[in-house]
Amino acid sequence: MTDPDLEAAKERAWQEVAAVDAAYRRGELDEQGWHDAMRAMVEPAYVGAATPEAGSGHGGDAETWAYTHRPILDAVDHDGSFLDVGCANGLLMQTIRDWALESGLVLEPYGVDISPAIAHLARDRCPQWADRIWTANAATWVPPRRFDYVRTGLEYVPDDRRAAYVDHLLTFLEPGGRLIIGKYNEETDLDTWAASVEAAGHPIVGRSTRPHRTHSLLAYKVFWVG
Ligand SMILES: C[S@@+](CC[C@H](N)C(=O)[O-])C[C@H]1O[C@@H](n2cnc3c(N)ncnc32)[C@H](O)[C@@H]1O
Repeated sequence: MTDPDLEAAKERAWQEVAAVDAAYRRGELDEQGWHDAMRAMVEPAYVGAATPEAGSGHGGDAETWAYTHRPILDAVDHDGSFLDVGCANGLLMQTIRDWALESGLVLEPYGVDISPAIAHLARDRCPQWADRIWTANAATWVPPRRFDYVRTGLEYVPDDRRAAYVDHLLTFLEPGGRLIIGKYNEETDLDTWAASVEAAGHPIVGRSTRPHRTHSLLAYKVFWVG
């Protein structure tokens, strides 16, 4: 049975998401309809956000942003280009570059977002990168170049499209590149997302996890393939 408290701690508007997923499963929404409904859910909150963190869908401050997102840097072991798929207002592009520099690594960030309004926000906040922030659905997009690192969430496509989505994003990589999944929140003792990617034929080459800030049963997780 679903525990509403646990689900709420995952920082998702889970009831609304579940309703959209159910409509998709019943065939009332096609894939485009699913994406439109998801976009309609996040767009007003991100565009009207009062803080940079909220404009990237994060409920905390700069400190908790770093705590939850810095594990993504564990996937980075050499200089290179870094595409944030679902770049929102560009905050991860900025912070991953800064954190990499602190570790003596140089990342060139790029971004893509499905929402024109949210991508516009990112270009406004990061004018120096305006020409490398694209508006597109990553599930169907063909990028104009390849990247050493591509980061994404699997929740950006319907459940039954996730395997094809991973296959598609792997084509964005430079030879030797890494596809980074996360961060996402999952019960500490479960491994559903990584197991599904591995079952689709993509061995996990690295992982990073941190305990959830407020919920003892959850962890922030990142893993990467490539
Ligand atoms: C939670 S934010 C991610 C913020 C940040 N990049 C991070 O690491 O936490 C999710 C963003 O992904 C975008 N997004 C969702 N599905 C997408 C898709 N299929 N293609 C591109 N962007 C997508 C949303 O519009 C939203 O701005």
